Amino acid sequence: MKVLLIGSGGREHALAWKIAQSPKLTKLYAAPGNPGIAEEAEIVALDTDDHAAVAEFCLKKKIDFVVVGPEGPLVAGLADVLRAAGIAVFGPSAAAAQLEGSKGFTKDLCARYHIPTGAYGRFTDAKSAKAYVRAQGAPIVIKADGLAAGKGVTVAMTLDEALAAVEDCFAGAFGAAGAEVVVEAYLDGEEASFFCLSDGKTALALASAQDHKRVGDGDTGPNTGGMGAYSPAPVMTSEMIERTMKEIIEPTMRGMAESGHPFSGVFFAGLMITAKGPELIEYNVRFGDPECQVLMMRMKSDLLPLLYAAATGTLAGMAIEWRDETALTVVMASKGYPGSYAKNTPIQALPTASATTKVFHAGTAMKDGGLVATGGRVLNITATGASAGAAKDGAYAAVSAVAWDNGFYRHDIGWRAVAREKA
Ligand code: AMP
Ligand code: GLY
Repeated sequence: MKVLLIGSGGREHALAWKIAQSPKLTKLYAAPGNPGIAEEAEIVALDTDDHAAVAEFCLKKKIDFVVVGPEGPLVAGLADVLRAAGIAVFGPSAAAAQLEGSKGFTKDLCARYHIPTGAYGRFTDAKSAKAYVRAQGAPIVIKADGLAAGKGVTVAMTLDEALAAVEDCFAGAFGAAGAEVVVEAYLDGEEASFFCLSDGKTALALASAQDHKRVGDGDTGPNTGGMGAYSPAPVMTSEMIERTMKEIIEPTMRGMAESGHPFSGVFFAGLMITAKGPELIEYNVRFGDPECQVLMMRMKSDLLPLLYAAATGTLAGMAIEWRDETALTVVMASKGYPGSYAKNTPIQALPTASATTKVFHAGTAMKDGGLVATGGRVLNITATGASAGAAKDGAYAAVSAVAWDNGFYRHDIGWRAVAREKA
């Protein structure tokens, strides 16, 4: 099978690494790619925003299957254009990608299908949003409706904070994404991410993970795209997984099919495990970054046929095998991230790969023959171990072998799981 992978982050490096191990693969192309992905795939100079050009490339190179990593191209309709050209695609249509692209869309679906989630209201003006906020009281959560690069959410612990967040959204702090605002009840519990393949009719559970969204140790500082992750998340017991499938994933899949927009791709459910059980915080319509990196380290099965089955309606009867280990990844980012940071800073040394450790590249590039950091999140130092503690030790040992003056990282990735092991 000839495959084109779209994307350039650590998530896509992990997907490329795993797809490249498939006996079914004959050729892997990637665009835009990065130096890590280039070890697994032939990088092609394609403007991935130019959907017609991507389709033309696929037809010319006789690509059998396109795997789309990030949400941007999906929400913009890349999968629709490729499918119309007769090319199989992993990733939902633009209509189905609304599950991530519009928080209000997802909340309405939850309401229609009785999917457990926080009570909410949708607003297009500040006055009525504020009236609702005052009536509900704090703590309360204010969300820009559209895609805001993970920054459109304010968890307000006081009424003043909540009212200010409403003002900010309507004043254009998140651009068009904030033209509509969702106000949502605060959910108290432990967060987990859950991943599940769907072909529109059949859902096949992948695995759980936990991300670390705040930039600083002890979950302090501003939110980021994710500073580290591990899998599995101990809070996702087999009972919680079963309930998540039955109460959240299956009704979502049914709801999408009944609305005429069957969902094919990966459901990434952001969950809060509350006293009542799993409740949905949000959906993403692609793998998590850096959650994908730890999932790929743990997956024993061949990934490519699973993704292809999700894309072609043939998931029924398939199964997935996992390594019975914890995988943990530490994100190394450019100093200043998630604010502004210097670009093209040199990375002098990386740890040598082993059977249990792997470095996935995110914002890196080659410049004058040397590796440089070009992005906010730059490297994902990943390890597996017999316990969360062992995986953590392995990952941090590898981190200490990185020579990059402008890099920083959190020192406590996996703390919840490690604390449970010690308890
Ligand atoms: P999101 O972008 O929707 O993932 O939200 C970012 C973060 O805000 C989540 O990872 C949660 O930590 C937090 N959050 C979002 N919605 C809620 C909620 N209803 N209750 C409590 N925390 C929330
Ligand atoms: N790590 C969170 C995300 O990919 O959205």
